[in-house]
Amino acid sequence: MKNEKKLRSAEWFGGSGKMGFVHRSWLRNQGYPDDYFQGRPVIGVCNTWSELTPCNGHLREFAEIVKRGVAEAGGFPLEFPVTSLGETIMKPTTMLFRNLASMDVEESIRANPLDGVVLLTGCDKTTPSTLMGACSVDLPTIVVPGGPMLNGWFRGERIGSGSFNWIIKEKQKTQDFSDEDLHEAEICAARSSGHCMTMGTASTMACMVEALGLTLPGAAAIPAVDSRKKVMAQLSGRRIVEMVKEDLTLSKLLVREAFENAIIANAAVGGSTNFIIHLLAIAGRIGVKLSLEDFDKLGSAIPLLVNLKPSGTYLMEDFFYAGGLPVVLKELHPYLHNDVLTVNGRSLGENNTEVPCYNDKVIAARDRPFQKEAGIAVLRGNLCADGAVIKPSAASPELMKHRGRAVVFESIEDYHQRIDDPDLEIDESCVIVLQGVGPKGYPGMPEVGNVDLPVKLLQKGVKDMVRISDGRMSGTAAGTVVLHVSPESAAGGTLALVQNGDMIELDVKNRRLHLDVSEQELQKRRAAWTSPAPLASRGYVKFYIDHVQQAHLGADLDILTGCSGSVVTRDLH
Ligand code: FES
Repeated sequence: MKNEKKLRSAEWFGGSGKMGFVHRSWLRNQGYPDDYFQGRPVIGVCNTWSELTPCNGHLREFAEIVKRGVAEAGGFPLEFPVTSLGETIMKPTTMLFRNLASMDVEESIRANPLDGVVLLTGCDKTTPSTLMGACSVDLPTIVVPGGPMLNGWFRGERIGSGSFNWIIKEKQKTQDFSDEDLHEAEICAARSSGHCMTMGTASTMACMVEALGLTLPGAAAIPAVDSRKKVMAQLSGRRIVEMVKEDLTLSKLLVREAFENAIIANAAVGGSTNFIIHLLAIAGRIGVKLSLEDFDKLGSAIPLLVNLKPSGTYLMEDFFYAGGLPVVLKELHPYLHNDVLTVNGRSLGENNTEVPCYNDKVIAARDRPFQKEAGIAVLRGNLCADGAVIKPSAASPELMKHRGRAVVFESIEDYHQRIDDPDLEIDESCVIVLQGVGPKGYPGMPEVGNVDLPVKLLQKGVKDMVRISDGRMSGTAAGTVVLHVSPESAAGGTLALVQNGDMIELDVKNRRLHLDVSEQELQKRRAAWTSPAPLASRGYVKFYIDHVQQAHLGADLDILTGCSGSVVTRDLH
């Protein structure tokens, strides 16, 4: 299916007049010969490299490898930088900037003479932000995930990036972890280039793009420093040139069935709850209808096939040696739409048929899963009219049905100030309620939903409690944590009306989250409620607060939903 369409880049480089001269002439200062401007597909290498994004620190080198592949296939590679979001460094939260980064990607692609795009991604938000932007332009696009770090090892045990933070925090509170121990763990945790090597959000996003059919098969799990990752990058560079010739645009790959596949695969790998919010936003950009209920309907009965931290034992390096995502996708054949097309021109099913599993402690067969049902549960009730989510595989079974007294914190600062107050009236049966951490309220919906338990309860040996918020949770965290409550408290959701002492009922099996307060009383509280003062009066943050949608819609900006295509109507004169 060769494409006879004129290359988009010819609008820039094919002209014979003044503007053709301008477009070519300045670019020639980088030393490109004539034939580069004569019908070669121009491939944009969209790079989220930044020294401020440690997980993507190796992507400058990867860009050169991708470009090698593009040139080998007869393309003209041009690398361009875009906003990069470093999860462990940016304040107050990278999620505040995901949509901003996506705008940068979208406009950079559309405004330039590109025929196809390679997205170089790694850290949590760099995958969804680049893909959201690319979807709104809809050119042929392939993703090269940067790959996880090698396993962390600390005193003979695997330590998973992110997941170990929560363990350390608890150990420090219960005082059997010294500063020297902490220093040693810090040095052991990040041994190589790459992103977090747990099944946190970055690994979840890498698996998501592979399951969506947007990477070459097997790309997600290859460690960043493995030479095979470089081969993958080079082959992706070659392949994108062919994709341009085939006019294999994102909208031809990202059909509803591809999204369903991603939801099923995410359940089987035990992926992060952040997957929901990012996939909803991506679907919104490409114009595929997806709802919160789809995640429950399609994913909740899927067996857990991967034994990775935070809920399991192993790490991404082990996952790669066991066979990686192709093994999972092969095991999932009965559940998946196997005929969905992927970037290499073959179907998902064709790509993942002959793939042996090399370690069944890491990847299970579907008839011997690590858990029978692994997906995300979507809750409804008067506390979350538009939904809330919980990850049962990361929660405590005994808390999945629970009634408890609310202990309410109005903000994360309020929580930090009071949670370890010895006089705080709280025990392990209580429900910790955190308000003000939603998309508008924080703003940016940070990963604080899995707040620590009070130190006095940790010291008693309490390991888990029900926690409810309008925020998110790190993909590296675990616990009986209800997240993404929508509408959020700052938007006047019922969460804002919860008071200390109210009784809350969580019933995951029946998908119910209920505030046991009469409707009459809630109406009284609602009438007395005033919305919090806006936290920004200018700039991007003000724009974000004014336009961000609620969590059940993917927290994208309302004006960014949808696709404007690749046509630029006005010229440079
Ligand atoms: Fe970048 Fe975890 S901090 S992936």
